[in-house]
Amino acid sequence: MSPSIRDIQEKKTRSEKIAVLTAYDLTSAKICDEAGIDIALVGDSAGMVVMGYPNTISVTMEEMLVFCRSVVNGSKNSLIVADMPFGSYQFDPKLAVANAIKFIKLGCHAVKIEGGLEVLKLIREMTNFGIPVMGHIGLKPQTTVLWQGYKVQGKTFDSAKALYNQAIEIEKAGAFSLVLELVTKEVSSEISRSLTIPTIGIGSGSGCDGQVLVYHDLLGLFDNFKPKFVKRYLESFSLNLEAVKKYKSEINSGIFPGEEHSFSMSTEESIKFTNYISTLRNYNITNRNEKQKEQIRHA
Ligand code: KIV
Repeated sequence: MSPSIRDIQEKKTRSEKIAVLTAYDLTSAKICDEAGIDIALVGDSAGMVVMGYPNTISVTMEEMLVFCRSVVNGSKNSLIVADMPFGSYQFDPKLAVANAIKFIKLGCHAVKIEGGLEVLKLIREMTNFGIPVMGHIGLKPQTTVLWQGYKVQGKTFDSAKALYNQAIEIEKAGAFSLVLELVTKEVSSEISRSLTIPTIGIGSGSGCDGQVLVYHDLLGLFDNFKPKFVKRYLESFSLNLEAVKKYKSEINSGIFPGEEHSFSMSTEESIKFTNYISTLRNYNITNRNEKQKEQIRHA
């Protein structure tokens, strides 16, 4: 059974770390589930790692709903958090709540929205309607990137103070947890100590209450992208590539499929089939000879 929001929060009280990983489809959801991952985050990073968009801005509600549906289908034991895509919650609070409800109706347990003080009202509104919200500050890929690119946050006193205050207000607004992305370890540790809700860090050091990584980064499903904060536990891209190359070469050389991959008829049915084919061939030969004779007669 998937944990409740309270179960996740109690982990912080017991000083137990929370393991979060993104999932986008049935297989990644099943792997998260079997590995005992606490939260499967259907991140809008799907826009980049699944759809191939250059950033997370382009991914749509419709696409996120498809990813969420397959994660819900593959997951039994993780809490599923749906990342609300850019444009689905920014300009109309009613639309934002309606969109959040779409994820909850699919079977997700909570939604995540990026933003600081500008989203407090929305967090209050959603939690009032009973929708659990995960906040997300620090580097906010939907907007920070437009202004600064992918830059570490909280390096100066002003930036640290702003992040700290945002975190406090987000907890007060009712968020059940908070993602801290690319935040200096001093700031993320202080925020984690000061909040009662769990913080989930990505590129924000070990002082957070939990950690999240993108599934494709953890498994090394890219050959060309390796940010400093990612630990690769496998080199899946090259392993997959090797396997697919071997498959192609075995088709070309006739090694695949082997006898063990083929299916047979019973001897009795096979004899009947062979006899049928040879009768058919004899009939065709006779028929062709008759036609040729006819043509010669009429020539
Ligand atoms: O979309 C995502 O994958 C995320 C996490 C990295 C926090 O927002």
